[in-house]
Amino acid sequence: MNDDVLEKYIRAGSITKDAREYAAANVRAGGSALELVDAVEGLIRSKGAECAFPVNIGVNEVAAHYTPSKSTDIRFSEGDVVKIDIGAHVDGYPGDTAVTVEVGTKNHAPLIRAAETALEMCMQMMAPGTTVSAMGEAIERAISSAGFKPIKNLTGHSMERYNLHAGMSVSNVKNRDRSALKEGMVVAIEPFSTTGVGKVDGGSRGGIYRVMRDRRAPPEITTFFSRLQSSFGGFPFAARWCEDLHPNASSLLPRMVRMGMIISYPILVEVGMGLVAQAEHSVIVTQEGCTVLTR
Ligand code: CO
Repeated sequence: MNDDVLEKYIRAGSITKDAREYAAANVRAGGSALELVDAVEGLIRSKGAECAFPVNIGVNEVAAHYTPSKSTDIRFSEGDVVKIDIGAHVDGYPGDTAVTVEVGTKNHAPLIRAAETALEMCMQMMAPGTTVSAMGEAIERAISSAGFKPIKNLTGHSMERYNLHAGMSVSNVKNRDRSALKEGMVVAIEPFSTTGVGKVDGGSRGGIYRVMRDRRAPPEITTFFSRLQSSFGGFPFAARWCEDLHPNASSLLPRMVRMGMIISYPILVEVGMGLVAQAEHSVIVTQEGCTVLTR
């Protein structure tokens, strides 16, 4: 990796970290999720980066892939376990980080700490040659020994320019995957701990989309599609970001999903309706070990 690319990853990581800290400090009972994500995404842009995906807000048993819109906004309540997952990119080079906060209470501190400890355990062992299997085992052991379950069908992921899932998936449980880290890889590690059964399933649509493929379509759709492609590339985007790109965006998006031109992510909910906590950092693998980009 050349210095220019490294510098962009470092800047993206640092801006993502600032956004995470701002978000964690501004979740409060009665607060609107939409107001929070608008502020966080505004902060990312004000620092000269772009969002690598819409800010995800996961409350209690919701693990991932919900972002608020005007029509689907929620308000936080005292005692909620709130995950905030944030991505920013500089010239396509992404940073990805997440934090869990409990609104006004401390009843679930051990659940939150389990995810954070698992993340630390994993990062401590990351170096060229560390296998996916070994990382999953470390995460699983940390969460299980705290008395919770890791979510087995959510994973960390290697990242590249304009690509959040660049090939390597880092399981949150031990598996048979012997693929190993290499120097220069950038990887987001994201353990999820739960009081439930340790699995998520897709439910209703969460307002997050991604461009898939161009298709023959009416001119209105073709024009909108190329704007989506040039604005977001391979990164996920929110319906609420599209108002400026096309006046009929809200009706075109579902049509384009049906045509296979874009996909819409389902909201991921813990199957046993358990509470879910998450911790996440983006890490670059170095010659000796790793450097955390979002600390
Ligand atoms: Co991630």
